[in-house]
Amino acid sequence: MRVRQATIDRSALEHNFKQIQSRAPRSAILAMVKSNAYGHGLERVAKTLTEADGFGVACIDEVERLRNADIRQRIVLMTGFHTPEELLCLHQLEATPVIHNELQISILSESNLTSSIPVWVKVNIGMGRLGFQLTEVGDVLERLRNLSSRIKILGLMAHFSSADSLASPATQQQMTLFQQLLQTHHLPGSLAHSAGIFGWQASLHDWVRPGIALYGVSPFPDCTGLDLNLRPVMTLKSRLLAVHQLTKGSSVSYGGLFVCPENMPVGVVEIGYGDGYPRHAAMGTPILIRGQRCALIGRVCMDMIIVDLRSIPNAQIGDEVTLWGEGLPIEEVAKCADTIGYELLCHVSQRVSTHV
Ligand SMILES: Cc1ncc(COP(=O)(O)O)c(C=O)c1O
Repeated sequence: MRVRQATIDRSALEHNFKQIQSRAPRSAILAMVKSNAYGHGLERVAKTLTEADGFGVACIDEVERLRNADIRQRIVLMTGFHTPEELLCLHQLEATPVIHNELQISILSESNLTSSIPVWVKVNIGMGRLGFQLTEVGDVLERLRNLSSRIKILGLMAHFSSADSLASPATQQQMTLFQQLLQTHHLPGSLAHSAGIFGWQASLHDWVRPGIALYGVSPFPDCTGLDLNLRPVMTLKSRLLAVHQLTKGSSVSYGGLFVCPENMPVGVVEIGYGDGYPRHAAMGTPILIRGQRCALIGRVCMDMIIVDLRSIPNAQIGDEVTLWGEGLPIEEVAKCADTIGYELLCHVSQRVSTHV
């Protein structure tokens, strides 16, 4: 059995899904499972979320994996297709591409579709990433409709740029633009991701697209998932590999950045950036041992980190250590590493074994 373990709590996933449902009771839910379900295991998450109306992914490989796992719900490929072969493949997999550029329209125009294909049309309302410009939408819709009656436009989709900041005036403008667009074109819409669902009621349209909230993590920088009544799905654990008494003035880890201010116990934990623990986690990043917090000291190594055990003098070799999850919000760890929970979850490496 491997020492480094990510425990995946399915009941927490179900709980979070229900919280999302209660926030958006009239919307269908496209559960975002891209990037291996934010590191939680694509097939496992999709099979747990039996009530999801569909799944959102970011590459064809993820579509194939879901279909191979016998997932029958709608699967939306957020990036769409880029070659005729990819279109054919998606069509055969009965997946729904997002159409966001002219190349895709020309591939569709040259394709010989034998049955209907559902598509979402993406619009840029301020994110500046994927999507047609607002002024192009009418023309794009008309051309798609004229291309083939087999192309079924499910609706218009857009993505917020700044909804994680609840004071953002840009978000209000983006919601208004999108609302006008839906009224003009009389189509269903999909706008809200997690921050929309939990922070911007007016962004809930026909479909919502939660990602990070499903996994129990807050989309907002100033609160944790627990504050939103969400439960962490992943808990990352390892164990204490060594305990030492270091004397005052001893230095710790590469570069000797931490110097013991007194004689003190330190612990070595079997986790490092080779497992996805962030290399830039600052000294003071919280770590949980025996249910008590201690602090990271010195630089994070590839396979190990070192912790200050002055607050847990009875800690012993073999003790279980929690890096984030149950009892230690990932948002706190992310902040100490100058990153976001999304990145930490997605970066957990193959060396960590996953348990349900
Ligand atoms: C287009 C789109 N919709 C929805 C999501 C889900 O966002 P979140 O994880 O913040 O809920 C993402 C994630 O990046 C996305 O790119």
